[in-house]
Amino acid sequence: PIPGSTGFAGIGFDSIPASLAIGGRVADVVAVPAGYTAKLLVSWGDPIAIGGVPFKADASNTAAEQALQYGMHTDGMHFFPFSSRGQVLSDRGLLCANNEYTHEAILFPAGQTGSDVLGGGYTIEKARKSQSAHGVSIVEIRRVGSNWTVVANSIYGRRLTSNTPMRLSGPAAGHALLKANEHVITPTGTTPTGNQTDGYVANGTINNCAHGITPWGTYLTCEENWNGNFGSTTGSVNTNVATEIGKLNNRYGLSASGNGYRWHTVDPRFDISVNPNEPNLFGWVVEVDPFSPTNTPVKRTALGRFKHESAQYVVDSANNLAFYQGDDERNEYIYKFVASGKFNPTNRAANLDLLDSGVLYVAKFNADLTGEWIALLPGTIGAGGVALRDNPNFSGADDAEVLAKILIKTRMAADAVGATMMDRPEWTGARPRVNGYDEIEVYCTLTNNNRRDPSTSINVNKPDGSTAAGSARPPVDAANPSENNIYGHIIRWRETGKSVLATTFTWDLFVQAGDTQTAKTPNSTNDFKGNIVADPYGSADFGAPDGLWFDWFGRLWVQTDQIGDGSGDWVNIGANSLSCADPNTKEFRRFLTGPNRCEVTGITMTPDGKTLFVGIQHPGEDSPATDPAQYSTWPAGQWATRADGTPLPGGRPRAGVVVITKDDGGIIGA
Ligand code: FEO
Ligand code: CA
Ligand code: CA
Ligand code: CA
Repeated sequence: PIPGSTGFAGIGFDSIPASLAIGGRVADVVAVPAGYTAKLLVSWGDPIAIGGVPFKADASNTAAEQALQYGMHTDGMHFFPFSSRGQVLSDRGLLCANNEYTHEAILFPAGQTGSDVLGGGYTIEKARKSQSAHGVSIVEIRRVGSNWTVVANSIYGRRLTSNTPMRLSGPAAGHALLKANEHVITPTGTTPTGNQTDGYVANGTINNCAHGITPWGTYLTCEENWNGNFGSTTGSVNTNVATEIGKLNNRYGLSASGNGYRWHTVDPRFDISVNPNEPNLFGWVVEVDPFSPTNTPVKRTALGRFKHESAQYVVDSANNLAFYQGDDERNEYIYKFVASGKFNPTNRAANLDLLDSGVLYVAKFNADLTGEWIALLPGTIGAGGVALRDNPNFSGADDAEVLAKILIKTRMAADAVGATMMDRPEWTGARPRVNGYDEIEVYCTLTNNNRRDPSTSINVNKPDGSTAAGSARPPVDAANPSENNIYGHIIRWRETGKSVLATTFTWDLFVQAGDTQTAKTPNSTNDFKGNIVADPYGSADFGAPDGLWFDWFGRLWVQTDQIGDGSGDWVNIGANSLSCADPNTKEFRRFLTGPNRCEVTGITMTPDGKTLFVGIQHPGEDSPATDPAQYSTWPAGQWATRADGTPLPGGRPRAGVVVITKDDGGIIGA
């Protein structure tokens, strides 16, 4: 047994101070407690696959070079250890990391429209580089002596990009809505063949935010704000809710200019006006086997289609298997997928298609601290007493087609059954059942929400796929008690009977984040500030919780995603951070603060607990100056070399992963 209270090994470091702004900027460094050392492991542009070439400090690497380099804007990740003689190793592994999006002012030498080696204006070469910087990076890493290094030219080194061939499986695969126009994709163009695909194939993955793993050792990458990578060359998008695609476009937020990428202007695959079904190939959870470098990634449709954040698995004592998932948008939902088959701990091959069949549930949180998992199945009775199979949104030739439509239009099914709209569900994490703790307890970060505020008239989603004016915004409820939830909160629930098959649960709010120095009374105003837990360390002050992960020792780690410059609502909170919490007492201690305007996201650990990897995303983002390097030069501004001693070129900011060890060689956090 591990020391400390039930299910928890104790926290052995002192909280570090908040990194507050001085002159409009927070320190452009990663800070960790005394007795710990942080170094850079890998960052955007480092070569990770066979044939990869080094990063060029002026960002003039080509699209083809980027496709063999670490992607941009690192996010969720997991360390998969190698094994030797039946023992997992803590000094050699495959780091699988998501690369969520690109910051195009940094990605190209002269920005999105300037003229440089990638062409003048927006070119297919620029689109291909952006697409190649999205996706997943699979990196072989080793510890040599006390230093970690990326293994150059590893046979396992691999990039999944927005153009990597993938397949679709599960109940929705093959459905007409997934039959898109077929294209021939080359480095210099995308040409329609005139044929339609069969609904079982897709190209690439985009906006890979958080992640999951399976108990059989595969990696799950989750597609979040994929809608923003599409656009329309006609300048408009079908949002006519009298049409099936119009409803989908509306409910999932497709628009003519998207998030400003402009891929659609040079790559017709992302032009919704000519490829209306292409968006339906995104919004899925994608499974890949990192130890099989030629493995074709699979989009598992049984887990539903939305803006996926993470997918946390739990195996219960009867080997039933569930995945808990958030849909990160204001007033969206929390889901649970329960596999039909049981996990087989002794036969890996028997597990490989477990994600293709099961039941997807959506959560309803009641005011009395009970909750229900509502199955999204054809026979489920929804609004107006109408079964989903009789709801025109899901009508089909048979229940197999109804289920396919429920999975493609998951948000609309959740709307119809009256699930609880949440304050932007981000990561889910399961508390380990160690040292006498035996509940199935799952946590979810609810990062913020400004669409319950009665003073706003911002539209909200409606079950038919249309939007309603602000008067129809959801009111506060017990699970989402703030009208203007600036700082976010963390909710947790315990499955009835300690079974993942449970259709009921109990829940409570683990913490409401905030600025304790300006605390106001909870729930009494539309500007809730303050932590519900009296915190002797003062370190519960954080906001916009996003990354959430339990280590093997029962410590809860929470990462944040606010603007990260210490301004406005964040003057007392400062830079984004990583905190460690005691799930019993709710005590938080701040472990790490990040560089200027970065998000801290992505966390994983070696099996021995002695090496921690933490992601630093988008340093310098949204800086007032045109040149983000005026606001961040991290990591080169902090360190002259990487962890392995190789020199770090200066210049523009580069998202990347830091490796943290304890100076006495001990377990992180202990
Ligand atoms: Fe990409 Fe919901 O954070
Ligand atoms: Ca996130
Ligand atoms: Ca962010
Ligand atoms: Ca976020």
